[in-house]
Amino acid sequence: MKFSKFVAYGSYLPKKILTNKDLEQIFDTSDEWIQTRTGIQQRHIVEEGQKTSDLAFAAAQDALGDNDSLKNQIDLILVATTTPDKIFPSVACAVQRKLNLKNIPAFDIQAVCSGFIYALATADSFIRSGVYKKILVIGADSMSTITDYSDRSNAILWGDGAGAVIVEASDEPGIIKNIINSNGEHEELLHVPRESKENQPNTIEMQGNAVFKIAVNTLDQIVDETLKGSGYEKKDIDWLVPHQANIRILQATAKKLDMSMDHVIVTINKHGNTSAASIPLALNEGIKTGRIQKGQLILMEAFGGGFTWGSSLVRI
Ligand code: UT7
Repeated sequence: MKFSKFVAYGSYLPKKILTNKDLEQIFDTSDEWIQTRTGIQQRHIVEEGQKTSDLAFAAAQDALGDNDSLKNQIDLILVATTTPDKIFPSVACAVQRKLNLKNIPAFDIQAVCSGFIYALATADSFIRSGVYKKILVIGADSMSTITDYSDRSNAILWGDGAGAVIVEASDEPGIIKNIINSNGEHEELLHVPRESKENQPNTIEMQGNAVFKIAVNTLDQIVDETLKGSGYEKKDIDWLVPHQANIRILQATAKKLDMSMDHVIVTINKHGNTSAASIPLALNEGIKTGRIQKGQLILMEAFGGGFTWGSSLVRI
């Protein structure tokens, strides 16, 4: 079994919606500015008491449906998240408990917005090496819980949600190529400091403009790097399923691929930036609306805090 193939998809978005109009009531901004600069119209955010593991569990349930046989074959749970319920234990262990699965390993992966790609690359390695055969991979984040709603240049971006896939060992592709990478030199450009301001929760600090430029350049390079030696060219890619950070970043990557925006799955307008959840949420949207079809080639790519970045080229 050479490949990891996607066999199930799930997603969950919290019911509560925060619109640009709602943000106009909190700080000096406008729906027009937010839509023009980011492409975002609204984001879903958790209710009081709703945790990242609740979102992750709901996405896993959506992927599994009532297929208990599939559930009982899962031999590893990976959760990409930056907003765990607790410092420990992991969200993955909470999902394992909620799914009532016993005696399988479960752990979190923290690579911020690139987390889902990191988790997928980890799952793929376990499958290719023959260690595990069926892996539940989740991206889940509650970014609203680490957002400073007095920082207008930053608070407009973030949303909450979760997406899940189940990957299994297969003779057919599957995941064709993954790239993961990092550079810790610029951590102050995008981070959540450990020390909190007095009586304030720790929140995201980002120099958006600087991050934007590095993100566009890095994603530009990763397109070439992913295709190199893969046996595929730009024109072979049916869908770009990108991390949803800013519509202008998505447009720049599509341009690099000579791809029309009709072949890009865009969810940022409805979801905002949900960090590790954004790619699996977009993937779900593409699959469940019937736009992404079996046999098609998709490119997923992400850039985020760390800095971390990565990509996966996948035959659906
Ligand atoms: O997912 C992880 C990676 N993250 C990213 O890739 C995020 C990358 N960064 C971005 O998406 C953008 O930098 C932002 C959306 C965060 C900000 O957009 P920008 O075009 O870079 O705006 P800016 O920070 O350069 O600010 C431009 C102007 C400033 O006014 P002046 O100084 O030109 O008068 C800001 O004060 O826009 C002003 N501004 C706002 N105005 C209305 C900043 N935020 C707002 C706002 N509403 N919410």
